[in-house]
Amino acid sequence: MTSGPVKVASAPAEALRGEMRVPGDKSISHRALMLASLAVGRSHISGLLTGEDVLATAAAMRALGATITTARDGSVTVDGAGLGALAEPDVPLDFGNAGTGSRLAMGVVAAHPIAATFVGDASLSRRPMGRVLNPLREMGVSVLAREGDRLPLTLRGPLTLAPIRYKPPVASAQVKSAVLLAGLGAPGETTVVEAVATRDHTERMLRAFGADVRSEATDVGDVITVVGQPTLRPCDVDVPGDPSSAAFPIVAALIVPGSELTLRNILLNPARTGLITTLQEMGGDVAITNERDAGGERVGDIVVRASTLRGVTVPAERAASMIDEYPVLSVAATFAEGTTLMQGVHELRVKESDRLAAVAAGLEANGVAHETGDDWLAVTGRTGEVGGGTVTTHLDHRIAMSFLIMGMAADKPVSVDDGTVMATSFPGFADLMNGAGASIVVL
Ligand code: S3P
Repeated sequence: MTSGPVKVASAPAEALRGEMRVPGDKSISHRALMLASLAVGRSHISGLLTGEDVLATAAAMRALGATITTARDGSVTVDGAGLGALAEPDVPLDFGNAGTGSRLAMGVVAAHPIAATFVGDASLSRRPMGRVLNPLREMGVSVLAREGDRLPLTLRGPLTLAPIRYKPPVASAQVKSAVLLAGLGAPGETTVVEAVATRDHTERMLRAFGADVRSEATDVGDVITVVGQPTLRPCDVDVPGDPSSAAFPIVAALIVPGSELTLRNILLNPARTGLITTLQEMGGDVAITNERDAGGERVGDIVVRASTLRGVTVPAERAASMIDEYPVLSVAATFAEGTTLMQGVHELRVKESDRLAAVAAGLEANGVAHETGDDWLAVTGRTGEVGGGTVTTHLDHRIAMSFLIMGMAADKPVSVDDGTVMATSFPGFADLMNGAGASIVVL
């Protein structure tokens, strides 16, 4: 954890070039730690993200009884306590900034007849938890939460959990995952019906750890069922590079003239590639090579070359597959000819910050033409000089990194009020980008 905000600036860059690897996927990292903790025996995880969000999940799983150690080469060993055998933690589980870690862990705790208190930073304490708590209440979990179902809150799992069939009112992989993880503790079958498909890492990884999980496409959407009370067996997980982190160098290479970057070993799960589709529609030269299956997920290398971009309409149906990428798409749109309209993005209001408001304020501060509505954002590129502003990050890593990317292609430097937040998901972001030719400096 860091001691205070640090202002960081990014100046216009020459061409960005080279090969890079980005840190491990955040979604897969959280899930690997949790499922390995629920397995009986030893799992090895390589490529685990060492961002603060994932470190918080590791600390929580330790407090719940798993033994987690990191070797010098960064590989992680987890000795699981076993499903049903997690211990009541002596201390509150502090999830820092981590929405995914906290919400998935609520499902894990719910599957046990123990009480646990969840706390987090100012950003996480503002975020709605009712979306996860409501189905858990239906399963018999007791909850004591702050007004509006916010953190801090305490959960107590019942002695016998009721399996449910649940249709989340919002498209959310976190909600789906929390219900499926809780369902591990219930006798019988727990089902989630998803009107809009979201990332399926939980389902894939549960299968790899030995659970019986069925996914069926039906008229009402995807129906995902987990059979409760399995014995989870240990599994080795090799975490691929995070496409939501790769998004930053990808956009940087597109908008900084003369650039060419190759990103190795990036997760290409189709539920995560909406940004690549959108950038290609905008005229971006983004090519996938060396595509392969690795540990139950699709991965590949991404080669990006600077391109002339044009504005497009991004349909609401694509939102779930690029939900974390809209801030950096807004930066790509800043350098595109015409208007990029992003539809159906209401969920951005309840991320690490109100991302619609934070992006709009950042665009405003840097002279970029834009308009927002309740669930849409329109950005018009190339209308005048870009840059010169300082952006408020509101404890949001993706706001910080997006606007530092903007600075690389702007007319004047772009600053963010607090660069420390980038450690949430992308430790080493500035060094990696500077190694390719960017000039990000601490002020
Ligand atoms: C995540 C799901 C998404 C995403 C988050 C990671 C996950 O949230 O924004 O960064 O790992 O399940 P929602 O499921 O709430 O949309």
